[in-house]
Amino acid sequence: MSYNLLKGKKGIIFGALNDKSIAWKVAERAVEEGAEIVLTNMAVSIRMGTINELAEKCNAKVIAADATSVEDLEKLFDETMAHFGGKIDFVLHSIGSSPNVRKGRTYDDLDYGFLQKTLDISAISFHKMMQVARKKDAINDWGSIVALSYVAAQRTFYGYNDMADAKSLLESIARSFGYIYGRDKKVRVNTVSQSPTVTTAGSGVSGFDGLLDFSERMSPLGNATADECADYVITLFSDLTRKVTMQNLFHDGGFSNIGMSHSAMEVYSKGAEAEQK
Ligand SMILES: NC(=O)c1ccc[n+]([C@@H]2O[C@H](COP(=O)([O-])OP(=O)(O)OC[C@H]3O[C@@H](n4cnc5c(N)ncnc54)[C@H](O)[C@@H]3O)[C@@H](O)[C@H]2O)c1
Repeated sequence: MSYNLLKGKKGIIFGALNDKSIAWKVAERAVEEGAEIVLTNMAVSIRMGTINELAEKCNAKVIAADATSVEDLEKLFDETMAHFGGKIDFVLHSIGSSPNVRKGRTYDDLDYGFLQKTLDISAISFHKMMQVARKKDAINDWGSIVALSYVAAQRTFYGYNDMADAKSLLESIARSFGYIYGRDKKVRVNTVSQSPTVTTAGSGVSGFDGLLDFSERMSPLGNATADECADYVITLFSDLTRKVTMQNLFHDGGFSNIGMSHSAMEVYSKGAEAEQK
């Protein structure tokens, strides 16, 4: 159902790889709500994934950019503004990757070159994107920028590895840049901390299936899906949330405020009994 929440707005969506991607769902919902969008991803992800299908469906231009490259980002914002004939209103940063996770390096045996890459791709790219946008004055007053995060930024989930550090940095960048962008241009900057979600990046986390089940049992409302995440992000791009900024907003069915739930305790007790036998 469409409410025309983004009628007349224009935006850039980073990170749609395939139809499981959270960014894919946000792109579809944004267009459904009346927005015009540009889609962007790394050239290799454009080749390996199915973003061109999404582009066709959303009548969107695709511009390749490695979000760790300031030069690529400058080109992306220039080309986007030329395409739309003016500034944009919203940006989604839906990017994450850890070479340490991919190569099976545990948190007490990190490769520090890989760690630099994890931080650059998953967090510093957010700063680069905003710095480029602000220098180019690419975003209209009262625009909105959202990045996706995870609760491992605040609490330890051992399999999440160095991505936890990246998410902590990402959320800190949202606060620090949110102050500057809000003060100067009324642009708001927030992170949405999403439930575990079955996507290419999500499934790469060690023990992901167990985590998905655990978090489903712990959350009073159950895990939030990618479609539900898209709905929430659309409200943050809309004019209904103009005074929300510098926040990390949990979109997780209540998981982040639960200590132990009845459903999780039942499973834990059964496991504990079996262990004692
Ligand atoms: N899936 C989950 O369980 C979950 C939970 C909470 C938060 N998140 C976050 O959601 C965001 C989107 O991930 P997803 O789950 O949709 O997975 P996904 O694999 O579909 O998306 C990750 C995207 O990052 C892109 N990317 C990687 N390196 C890049 C670079 N250098 N430049 C530009 N793009 C690059 C990939 O091409 C891909 O499109 C990530 O920030 C992720 O950490 C995911």
